[in-house]
Amino acid sequence: MPVPLLDLKAHHEPLHKEIMGALEQTFQSQAFILGPEVGKLEERVAAYCQARYGIGVTSGTDALLIGLMALGIGQGDEVITTPYSFFATAGAVVRLGAKPVLVDIDPVTYNIDPAKIKSALTAKSKAIIPVHLYGQCADMTPIMDIAKRHNLSVIEDAAQAIGSEYHDGRRACSIGTIGCLSFFPSKNLGCLGDGGMTITNDPDLAERIRVLRVHGSKPKYYHKLIGGNFRLDTIQAAVLNVKLDYLDGWTKRRQENATRYETLFKQSGLTQTGRVKLPEPVYRSSGAKHYHIYNQFVLRVEQRDALMAHLKQKGIGAEIYYPVPFHLQECFLYLGHKQGDFPESERAANETIAIPIYPELTPAQQTEVVETISDFYR
Ligand SMILES: Cc1ncc(COP(=O)(O)O)c(C=O)c1O
Repeated sequence: MPVPLLDLKAHHEPLHKEIMGALEQTFQSQAFILGPEVGKLEERVAAYCQARYGIGVTSGTDALLIGLMALGIGQGDEVITTPYSFFATAGAVVRLGAKPVLVDIDPVTYNIDPAKIKSALTAKSKAIIPVHLYGQCADMTPIMDIAKRHNLSVIEDAAQAIGSEYHDGRRACSIGTIGCLSFFPSKNLGCLGDGGMTITNDPDLAERIRVLRVHGSKPKYYHKLIGGNFRLDTIQAAVLNVKLDYLDGWTKRRQENATRYETLFKQSGLTQTGRVKLPEPVYRSSGAKHYHIYNQFVLRVEQRDALMAHLKQKGIGAEIYYPVPFHLQECFLYLGHKQGDFPESERAANETIAIPIYPELTPAQQTEVVETISDFYR
Protein backbone atom coordinates (compact mmCIF):
# COMPACT_ATOMS: atom_id res chain seq x y z
CA MET A 1 0.00 0.00 0.00
CA PRO A 2 1.63 3.30 -1.06
CA VAL A 3 1.52 6.10 1.51
CA PRO A 4 2.06 9.69 0.33
CA LEU A 5 4.07 12.21 2.34
CA LEU A 6 1.08 14.53 2.22
CA ASP A 7 -2.47 13.97 0.96
CA LEU A 8 -3.98 17.34 0.07
CA LYS A 9 -6.93 15.70 -1.68
CA ALA A 10 -7.96 13.93 1.51
CA HIS A 11 -7.27 17.12 3.45
CA HIS A 12 -9.46 19.37 1.32
CA GLU A 13 -12.23 16.95 0.32
CA PRO A 14 -14.33 17.41 3.50
CA LEU A 15 -14.08 21.20 3.03
CA HIS A 16 -14.81 21.21 -0.69
CA LYS A 17 -18.20 22.90 -0.40
CA GLU A 18 -17.10 25.43 2.20
CA ILE A 19 -13.98 26.41 0.27
CA MET A 20 -15.89 26.66 -3.02
CA GLY A 21 -18.43 28.87 -1.22
CA ALA A 22 -15.64 31.20 -0.08
CA LEU A 23 -14.16 31.30 -3.60
CA GLU A 24 -17.58 31.95 -5.11
CA GLN A 25 -18.24 34.75 -2.64
CA THR A 26 -14.91 36.40 -3.45
CA PHE A 27 -15.61 36.00 -7.14
CA GLN A 28 -19.04 37.56 -6.76
CA SER A 29 -17.57 40.51 -4.88
CA GLN A 30 -14.96 41.06 -7.62
CA ALA A 31 -12.79 42.55 -4.85
CA PHE A 32 -9.49 40.72 -5.16
CA ILE A 33 -6.98 42.99 -3.43
CA LEU A 34 -6.86 43.19 0.40
CA GLY A 35 -10.29 44.20 1.81
CA PRO A 36 -12.33 42.71 4.68
CA GLU A 37 -11.36 39.04 4.12
CA VAL A 38 -7.67 39.87 4.53
CA GLY A 39 -8.39 42.12 7.52
CA LYS A 40 -10.48 39.42 9.18
CA LEU A 41 -7.78 36.80 8.64
CA GLU A 42 -5.09 39.12 9.99
CA GLU A 43 -7.04 39.67 13.20
CA ARG A 44 -7.85 35.99 13.63
CA VAL A 45 -4.35 34.68 12.92
CA ALA A 46 -2.72 37.31 15.15
CA ALA A 47 -5.10 36.30 17.97
CA TYR A 48 -4.37 32.62 17.29
CA CYS A 49 -0.67 33.43 17.72
CA GLN A 50 -1.42 35.40 20.94
CA ALA A 51 -0.19 38.56 19.26
CA ARG A 52 -1.70 41.97 18.41
CA TYR A 53 -1.07 42.52 14.71
CA GLY A 54 -0.95 40.39 11.60
CA ILE A 55 -0.12 41.66 8.11
CA GLY A 56 -1.03 39.27 5.30
CA VAL A 57 1.74 38.97 2.73
CA THR A 58 2.61 37.06 -0.44
CA SER A 59 4.53 34.19 1.14
CA GLY A 60 6.53 33.07 4.16
CA THR A 61 9.64 34.20 2.31
CA ASP A 62 8.21 37.69 1.94
CA ALA A 63 7.04 37.68 5.56
CA LEU A 64 10.73 37.37 6.50
CA LEU A 65 11.87 39.88 3.90
CA ILE A 66 9.36 42.58 4.82
CA GLY A 67 9.98 41.98 8.53
CA LEU A 68 13.71 42.55 8.06
CA MET A 69 12.99 45.59 5.85
CA ALA A 70 10.73 47.09 8.52
CA LEU A 71 13.53 46.69 11.06
CA GLY A 72 15.86 48.56 8.71
CA ILE A 73 18.25 45.61 8.28
CA GLY A 74 20.60 46.16 5.35
CA GLN A 75 24.13 46.64 4.11
CA GLY A 76 26.77 46.20 6.80
CA ASP A 77 24.41 44.50 9.26
CA GLU A 78 24.78 40.98 10.62
CA VAL A 79 21.89 38.67 11.35
CA ILE A 80 22.46 35.59 13.46
CA THR A 81 20.61 32.47 12.37
CA THR A 82 20.79 28.72 11.91
CA PRO A 83 22.57 26.91 9.07
CA TYR A 84 19.82 24.28 9.06
CA SER A 85 16.53 25.56 7.68
CA PHE A 86 14.69 26.20 4.44
CA PHE A 87 16.70 28.51 2.18
CA ALA A 88 14.41 31.53 2.66
CA THR A 89 15.62 32.08 6.24
CA ALA A 90 19.11 33.09 5.13
CA GLY A 91 18.09 34.16 1.63
CA ALA A 92 15.99 37.05 2.97
CA VAL A 93 18.95 38.38 4.96
CA VAL A 94 21.30 38.31 1.98
CA ARG A 95 18.76 39.88 -0.39
CA LEU A 96 18.84 42.98 1.81
CA GLY A 97 22.62 43.19 1.66
CA ALA A 98 23.13 41.95 5.21
CA LYS A 99 25.33 39.05 6.30
CA PRO A 100 23.94 35.85 7.80
CA VAL A 101 26.08 34.79 10.75
CA LEU A 102 25.49 31.12 11.34
CA VAL A 103 25.23 29.36 14.69
CA ASP A 104 24.98 25.58 14.96
CA ILE A 105 21.86 23.74 16.10
CA ASP A 106 20.88 21.69 19.11
CA PRO A 107 21.03 18.04 18.00
CA VAL A 108 17.76 17.13 19.76
CA THR A 109 15.43 19.88 18.53
CA TYR A 110 17.36 20.88 15.37
CA ASN A 111 16.82 24.50 16.42
CA ILE A 112 19.52 27.14 16.95
CA ASP A 113 21.60 26.41 20.06
CA PRO A 114 21.34 29.52 22.29
CA ALA A 115 24.55 28.60 24.13
CA LYS A 116 26.48 29.16 20.91
CA ILE A 117 25.00 32.55 20.01
CA LYS A 118 27.32 34.58 22.25
CA SER A 119 30.44 33.78 20.24
CA ALA A 120 28.70 34.95 17.04
CA LEU A 121 27.96 38.46 18.36
CA THR A 122 29.84 41.44 16.93
CA ALA A 123 29.33 45.19 16.88
CA LYS A 124 27.45 44.69 13.60
CA SER A 125 24.89 42.24 15.00
CA LYS A 126 21.38 43.60 14.51
CA ALA A 127 19.02 40.64 14.82
CA ILE A 128 18.59 36.95 15.53
CA ILE A 129 16.33 34.69 13.44
CA PRO A 130 15.49 31.54 15.37
CA VAL A 131 13.59 29.01 13.25
CA HIS A 132 10.96 26.85 14.95
CA LEU A 133 11.90 23.92 12.76
CA TYR A 134 9.40 21.17 11.97
CA GLY A 135 6.84 22.77 14.31
CA GLN A 136 8.67 22.95 17.63
CA CYS A 137 9.67 26.26 19.21
CA ALA A 138 13.31 27.19 19.52
CA ASP A 139 14.49 27.82 23.09
CA MET A 140 13.26 31.40 23.21
CA THR A 141 14.04 32.54 26.79
CA PRO A 142 17.86 32.50 26.45
CA ILE A 143 17.54 33.91 22.92
CA MET A 144 15.41 36.83 24.14
CA ASP A 145 17.83 37.41 27.05
CA ILE A 146 20.79 37.72 24.67
CA ALA A 147 18.76 39.96 22.35
CA LYS A 148 17.79 42.25 25.21
CA ARG A 149 21.33 42.52 26.52
CA HIS A 150 22.73 43.35 23.08
CA ASN A 151 19.83 45.40 21.77
CA LEU A 152 18.97 42.99 18.95
CA SER A 153 15.65 42.35 17.25
CA VAL A 154 14.34 38.79 17.12
CA ILE A 155 12.50 37.54 14.05
CA GLU A 156 10.82 34.20 14.68
CA ASP A 157 10.73 32.11 11.53
CA ALA A 158 7.53 30.25 12.37
CA ALA A 159 6.81 29.19 8.77
CA GLN A 160 6.48 25.61 10.02
CA ALA A 161 5.13 26.39 13.46
CA ILE A 162 1.76 28.17 13.51
CA GLY A 163 0.34 27.95 17.05
CA SER A 164 3.32 26.02 18.39
CA GLU A 165 3.79 26.66 22.11
CA TYR A 166 6.95 27.21 24.09
CA HIS A 167 7.16 25.46 27.48
CA ASP A 168 5.38 28.35 29.21
CA GLY A 169 2.43 28.29 26.80
CA ARG A 170 3.49 31.33 24.77
CA ARG A 171 2.95 30.77 21.09
CA ALA A 172 5.34 31.12 18.20
CA CYS A 173 5.29 34.69 16.80
CA SER A 174 4.26 36.24 20.14
CA ILE A 175 7.70 36.15 21.78
CA GLY A 176 10.11 37.93 19.42
CA THR A 177 9.95 41.36 17.82
CA ILE A 178 8.39 39.92 14.67
CA GLY A 179 7.04 36.50 13.71
CA CYS A 180 6.73 35.06 10.20
CA LEU A 181 4.23 32.49 8.95
CA SER A 182 3.91 30.63 5.68
CA PHE A 183 0.61 29.42 4.21
CA PHE A 184 2.31 27.23 1.59
CA PRO A 185 -0.04 24.28 0.92
CA SER A 186 2.08 21.78 2.90
CA LYS A 187 2.00 23.87 6.07
CA ASN A 188 -0.44 23.05 8.90
CA LEU A 189 -2.52 26.00 7.73
CA GLY A 190 -2.04 26.13 3.99
CA CYS A 191 -3.82 28.06 1.26
CA LEU A 192 -4.33 27.17 -2.41
CA GLY A 193 -1.04 28.67 -3.52
CA ASP A 194 1.43 30.99 -1.84
CA GLY A 195 0.70 33.16 1.16
CA GLY A 196 2.19 34.29 4.44
CA MET A 197 1.81 36.63 7.38
CA THR A 198 4.07 38.89 9.41
CA ILE A 199 3.07 39.13 13.07
CA THR A 200 4.07 41.64 15.71
CA ASN A 201 2.98 43.21 18.99
CA ASP A 202 4.56 46.54 18.09
CA PRO A 203 2.04 49.02 16.60
CA ASP A 204 4.75 51.11 14.89
CA LEU A 205 6.33 48.09 13.25
CA ALA A 206 2.89 46.82 12.18
CA GLU A 207 2.18 50.15 10.51
CA ARG A 208 5.58 50.17 8.80
CA ILE A 209 5.04 46.64 7.47
CA ARG A 210 1.57 47.58 6.22
CA VAL A 211 3.03 50.54 4.33
CA LEU A 212 5.98 48.52 2.96
CA ARG A 213 3.44 45.95 1.68
CA VAL A 214 2.10 48.50 -0.80
CA HIS A 215 5.37 49.91 -2.16
CA GLY A 216 5.82 52.09 0.89
CA SER A 217 2.98 54.34 -0.13
CA LYS A 218 0.75 56.24 2.28
CA PRO A 219 -1.39 57.92 1.17
CA LYS A 220 -1.61 56.19 -2.20
CA TYR A 221 1.06 57.35 -4.68
CA TYR A 222 3.05 59.18 -1.98
CA HIS A 223 6.10 57.13 -1.00
CA LYS A 224 8.00 57.72 2.23
CA LEU A 225 9.60 54.28 2.04
CA ILE A 226 10.67 51.88 -0.67
CA GLY A 227 8.60 48.77 -0.29
CA GLY A 228 7.14 46.32 -2.76
CA ASN A 229 3.99 44.46 -3.69
CA PHE A 230 3.77 42.04 -0.78
CA ARG A 231 -0.02 41.69 -0.59
CA LEU A 232 -1.74 38.44 0.38
CA ASP A 233 -4.42 37.64 -2.23
CA THR A 234 -7.98 38.18 -1.01
CA ILE A 235 -8.97 34.83 -2.48
CA GLN A 236 -6.31 33.06 -0.38
CA ALA A 237 -7.46 34.93 2.73
CA ALA A 238 -11.03 33.75 2.08
CA VAL A 239 -9.85 30.13 1.90
CA LEU A 240 -7.71 30.53 5.01
CA ASN A 241 -10.66 32.01 6.93
CA VAL A 242 -12.48 28.75 6.24
CA LYS A 243 -9.54 26.52 7.09
CA LEU A 244 -8.49 28.30 10.30
CA ASP A 245 -11.56 26.89 12.12
CA TYR A 246 -10.16 23.39 11.62
CA LEU A 247 -6.53 24.04 12.50
CA ASP A 248 -6.71 22.91 16.15
CA GLY A 249 -8.32 19.62 15.12
CA TRP A 250 -5.62 19.01 12.50
CA THR A 251 -2.86 19.76 15.01
CA LYS A 252 -4.43 17.34 17.47
CA ARG A 253 -4.48 14.62 14.83
CA ARG A 254 -0.84 15.25 13.93
CA GLN A 255 0.04 14.91 17.63
CA GLU A 256 -1.99 11.69 17.89
CA ASN A 257 -0.18 10.35 14.83
CA ALA A 258 3.15 11.21 16.47
CA THR A 259 2.14 9.30 19.60
CA ARG A 260 1.05 6.34 17.47
CA TYR A 261 4.43 6.33 15.72
CA GLU A 262 6.12 6.26 19.12
CA THR A 263 4.22 3.09 20.01
CA LEU A 264 4.74 1.47 16.61
CA PHE A 265 8.47 2.19 16.51
CA LYS A 266 8.86 0.90 20.06
CA GLN A 267 7.06 -2.30 19.09
CA SER A 268 9.35 -2.64 16.09
CA GLY A 269 12.43 -2.52 18.34
CA LEU A 270 14.08 0.03 16.03
CA THR A 271 14.26 2.81 18.59
CA GLN A 272 15.85 0.52 21.19
CA THR A 273 18.66 -0.53 18.84
CA GLY A 274 19.37 3.12 18.05
CA ARG A 275 18.79 2.64 14.34
CA VAL A 276 15.93 5.09 14.45
CA LYS A 277 15.68 8.10 16.72
CA LEU A 278 12.27 9.75 16.97
CA PRO A 279 11.69 13.49 17.29
CA GLU A 280 11.70 14.66 20.90
CA PRO A 281 8.83 17.01 21.74
CA VAL A 282 10.82 18.75 24.47
CA TYR A 283 7.93 20.85 25.83
CA ARG A 284 5.36 18.04 25.97
CA SER A 285 5.73 17.56 29.72
CA SER A 286 5.23 21.28 30.36
CA GLY A 287 1.48 21.15 29.81
CA ALA A 288 1.62 23.29 26.65
CA LYS A 289 -1.25 22.12 24.45
CA HIS A 290 0.55 22.73 21.17
CA TYR A 291 3.96 21.63 22.49
CA HIS A 292 4.88 20.54 18.94
CA ILE A 293 2.60 20.96 15.95
CA TYR A 294 4.45 18.36 13.83
CA ASN A 295 4.52 20.11 10.50
CA GLN A 296 7.07 17.41 9.85
CA PHE A 297 7.89 14.17 11.67
CA VAL A 298 11.62 13.83 11.25
CA LEU A 299 13.59 10.71 12.17
CA ARG A 300 17.33 10.47 12.68
CA VAL A 301 18.32 7.14 11.17
CA GLU A 302 21.22 4.87 10.26
CA GLN A 303 21.96 4.51 6.52
CA ARG A 304 19.67 7.40 5.67
CA ASP A 305 20.20 7.52 1.91
CA ALA A 306 19.69 3.78 1.47
CA LEU A 307 16.53 3.96 3.60
CA MET A 308 15.27 6.84 1.48
CA ALA A 309 15.78 4.79 -1.69
CA HIS A 310 14.01 1.80 -0.08
CA LEU A 311 10.98 3.89 0.94
CA LYS A 312 10.79 5.42 -2.51
CA GLN A 313 10.89 2.01 -4.11
CA LYS A 314 8.08 0.79 -1.81
CA GLY A 315 5.89 3.84 -2.48
CA ILE A 316 6.26 5.41 0.96
CA GLY A 317 6.49 9.20 0.84
CA ALA A 318 9.59 10.61 2.53
CA GLU A 319 11.72 13.71 2.14
CA ILE A 320 15.02 15.08 3.30
CA TYR A 321 14.68 18.46 5.01
CA TYR A 322 17.39 19.67 4.30
CA PRO A 323 20.25 17.87 2.56
CA VAL A 324 22.71 20.80 2.45
CA PRO A 325 23.14 23.27 5.34
CA PHE A 326 23.51 26.94 4.41
CA HIS A 327 27.28 27.13 4.93
CA LEU A 328 27.85 24.47 2.28
CA GLN A 329 25.45 25.92 -0.31
CA GLU A 330 27.19 27.09 -3.45
CA CYS A 331 25.69 30.57 -3.28
CA PHE A 332 26.97 31.05 0.28
CA LEU A 333 30.54 29.87 -0.27
CA TYR A 334 31.59 33.53 -0.17
CA LEU A 335 30.88 33.43 3.57
CA GLY A 336 34.10 31.42 3.81
CA HIS A 337 32.87 28.38 5.69
CA LYS A 338 33.99 24.81 5.18
CA GLN A 339 32.85 21.28 5.94
CA GLY A 340 32.98 20.69 9.68
CA ASP A 341 32.22 24.27 10.73
CA PHE A 342 28.72 23.39 11.96
CA PRO A 343 28.92 19.69 12.79
CA GLU A 344 25.43 19.25 14.23
CA SER A 345 23.81 20.84 11.18
CA GLU A 346 25.90 18.64 8.90
CA ARG A 347 25.00 15.54 10.91
CA ALA A 348 21.30 16.45 10.75
CA ALA A 349 21.54 17.03 6.99
CA ASN A 350 23.10 13.58 6.56
CA GLU A 351 21.07 11.54 9.03
CA THR A 352 17.46 12.75 9.00
CA ILE A 353 14.38 11.86 6.99
CA ALA A 354 10.77 13.08 7.21
CA ILE A 355 7.95 10.52 7.06
CA PRO A 356 4.18 11.10 6.63
CA ILE A 357 2.45 12.79 9.61
CA TYR A 358 -0.46 14.64 7.94
CA PRO A 359 -3.80 14.70 9.84
CA GLU A 360 -5.65 12.31 7.51
CA LEU A 361 -2.99 9.59 7.83
CA THR A 362 -4.66 6.37 9.05
CA PRO A 363 -3.33 3.92 11.66
CA ALA A 364 -3.06 1.29 8.89
CA GLN A 365 -0.92 3.64 6.81
CA GLN A 366 1.30 4.36 9.79
CA THR A 367 1.74 0.63 10.40
CA GLU A 368 2.72 0.29 6.75
CA VAL A 369 5.31 3.05 7.08
CA VAL A 370 6.89 1.50 10.19
CA GLU A 371 6.83 -2.03 8.74
CA THR A 372 8.51 -0.81 5.56
CA ILE A 373 11.24 0.84 7.63
CA SER A 374 11.59 -2.34 9.76
CA ASP A 375 11.95 -4.44 6.59
CA PHE A 376 14.84 -2.26 5.51
CA TYR A 377 16.83 -2.89 8.70
CA ARG A 378 16.01 -6.63 8.88
C1 LIG B 1 11.50 27.51 7.86
C2 LIG B 1 10.90 28.17 6.66
N1 LIG B 1 11.11 29.48 6.46
C3 LIG B 1 10.57 30.13 5.41
C4 LIG B 1 9.80 29.47 4.49
C5 LIG B 1 9.28 30.23 3.30
O1 LIG B 1 7.91 30.16 3.16
P1 LIG B 1 7.21 30.23 1.71
O2 LIG B 1 7.45 28.93 1.03
O3 LIG B 1 5.78 30.48 2.02
O4 LIG B 1 7.83 31.38 0.98
C6 LIG B 1 9.53 28.12 4.66
C7 LIG B 1 8.69 27.39 3.69
O5 LIG B 1 8.92 26.30 3.29
C8 LIG B 1 10.11 27.44 5.76
O6 LIG B 1 9.90 26.14 5.95
